Amino acid sequence: MSTGTTAWRILGVPCPDTLEAPEAWAHHGIAALEAAAQRADLGDADTAPTAAAVLADLHHQEHERTVRLVAVSPDDDGRHVIGAATLRGDLRDNPDWADLDVVVHPDHRRQGLGTALADRIEAEAAADGRPVLVTEVMYPEPAPHQATLVPPTGTGRAPADHPGITFARGRGYRLEQVERRSVLTVPLDPVVLEGHVTAARARSRDYRLHTWHDEIPDRWAEGFAVLETRMSTDVPSGEMDWAEEVWDADRVGDLVARFHQGRQEILVTAAEHVGTGELVAMTMLAHRAGPGPSADQEDTIVLRHHRGHRLGLLVKAVNLQALARSRPQTRRVHTWNAEENDHMLAINVALGFRPEGGAATLRVTRAAR
Ligand SMILES: CC(C)(COP(=O)(O)OP(=O)(O)OC[C@H]1O[C@@H](n2cnc3c(N)ncnc32)[C@H](O)[C@@H]1OP(=O)(O)O)[C@@H](O)C(=O)NCCC(=O)NCCS
Repeated sequence: MSTGTTAWRILGVPCPDTLEAPEAWAHHGIAALEAAAQRADLGDADTAPTAAAVLADLHHQEHERTVRLVAVSPDDDGRHVIGAATLRGDLRDNPDWADLDVVVHPDHRRQGLGTALADRIEAEAAADGRPVLVTEVMYPEPAPHQATLVPPTGTGRAPADHPGITFARGRGYRLEQVERRSVLTVPLDPVVLEGHVTAARARSRDYRLHTWHDEIPDRWAEGFAVLETRMSTDVPSGEMDWAEEVWDADRVGDLVARFHQGRQEILVTAAEHVGTGELVAMTMLAHRAGPGPSADQEDTIVLRHHRGHRLGLLVKAVNLQALARSRPQTRRVHTWNAEENDHMLAINVALGFRPEGGAATLRVTRAAR
């Protein structure tokens, strides 16, 4: 199908065993598309998914449903990926919610392909019984005089004329929340980093730290699951009233397996309360296996009763020390935080993260079919 100048077909993405299978052209094509779009839209492709990560999500559907679509042009045997759409949905606790994502190659925009992909992925959500649709749009720092939108949280600003935001609002989505995207240039000066650790340690003597490379040891899986469950309730989410996501050790194992299969390595520093043996805080970094300049800051949480002891700063600073030792070639760490998440932002600013733009969360609820 086509409007304008580009002809395309939209296809479901299969789930082959490996990336060497003939059908894996789609996964490689998605990775190339995402990298091209992020380079054009944000300046680098640091956070674009690899083909391995795309395939890993399709393989691991024990707790989350993932549907992928690609739009292909007739060139290159009909295997040239020029657009893609993704649906992600929690299988147990939020069965009526879907996270949707649509991306079109910069050379093929404004020809109706984004609309065609959004229509198709929304139809997948409807067929799966998910009327609540959420999408995230990333953008660079708004220019000083650019018109902006304020979300209902009252915090943060999103550029009103950004293509992704215009596109989503044109489909009825409402801006819900604004996140700040920040980047930290690493390695940090070891003396400065040790200074953070020493200062935080002075306030958190009742805690023992553990750092894990590429695993969550079985002994800590249940405790880690409690922390992930709290991530689903304690991170500010504006008026996004989703239900608590209850994690167990099995889901923690699935998370780690998904990183492994996606050829991503993880680095976790967690804090144990010495008096009770309870795991009360953690932070996780993830990066591509092999050479590569960047890492992503994944979840960070301190349980409510243990806040105010500098544990958030402590686990992050110790994890950055571990990153500098295990992966000295890393140059940038990327993170996303809700603009109203004052405590997390204060820690990140103290560590040296600098703003590099934002991410807008938008939502629409479609009438059930
Ligand atoms: C947002 C995106 C998917 C749109 O893809 P597309 O193929 O250009 O979309 P369409 O051609 O179907 O555009 C549909 C409508 O969106 C709006 N729109 C899209 N791009 C726009 C732009 N650059 N400026 C203003 N409005 C724009 C317009 O209302 C457009 O209708 P029109 O062309 O009749 O005026 C594409 O820009 C993209 O991949 N951006 C990066 C990823 C992203 O932000 N995804 C959005 C997640 S919801």
